[in-house]
Amino acid sequence: MKDTAGTAIIEVSGVSKRVRDATGELTILHEIDLVLPRRESVAIVGASGSGKSTLLSILAGLDVPSSGTVKLDGIDLFSLDEDARAAVRGERVGFVFQSFQLMAHLTALENVMLPLELRGVREAKALATEMLGRVGLGARLSHYPKLLSGGEQQRVALARAFVVRPALLLADEPTGSLDHATGEAVMQLMLELDREAGTTLVLVTHDPGIAARCDRQIRIEAGRRVG
Ligand SMILES: Nc1ncnc2c1ncn2[C@@H]1O[C@H](COP(=O)(O)OP(=O)(O)O)[C@@H](O)[C@H]1O
Ligand SMILES: [Mg+2]
Repeated sequence: MKDTAGTAIIEVSGVSKRVRDATGELTILHEIDLVLPRRESVAIVGASGSGKSTLLSILAGLDVPSSGTVKLDGIDLFSLDEDARAAVRGERVGFVFQSFQLMAHLTALENVMLPLELRGVREAKALATEMLGRVGLGARLSHYPKLLSGGEQQRVALARAFVVRPALLLADEPTGSLDHATGEAVMQLMLELDREAGTTLVLVTHDPGIAARCDRQIRIEAGRRVG
């Protein structure tokens, strides 16, 4: 196996994003450079509308930059076609969203088993059960999302994201729809899981207290990296 321990998981060079709307051209991101070492946790902070979510989508190869390059695990994402890019993403990247995004018709256990089954993992049920125990939901395996509180739903989402041990986990305001105490507990759990799994965590937040708990912080203002 190739030893990639010393290389960056993400290398962003000169990434800009421009969109056209009725009033003309709008630049959402200006010449962003960014190198993320493996296993670190990084907070992306900045005001609402500064371009944080757009940058996260580009890191995942879900949105395409107007110029610049993104290397994920050494692979130049936008030199690939969409299918190849989706395959690279599927093997390496996990997501946690503000709105949880669980499958409503699947139980907690089935939601966590899903990414394992998609990868053909045989012990999907045992691994998913263990992971739900780790996030404190061992007694909620057969609950559907609508029967779970917001904090519980986000714990299921964390279990689903970490159970495949992604190299990179992208979280866009994961505590944004939770009350303060619940958000704190979810954040604590996410940082613990990140450490245990050896994941690189990229966390978008506008909460300075949460950002301060990551290894590094990156600040975006009006589409520019300013720190
Ligand atoms: N596809 C798009 N077309 C036009 N404007 C967009 C598009 N996507 C995002 N924007 C604008 O770009 C800016 C940055 O958006 P976003 O990345 O969602 O910011 P943040 O996540 O920091 O709140 C916002 O002003 C938003 O309205
Ligand atoms: Mg956003």
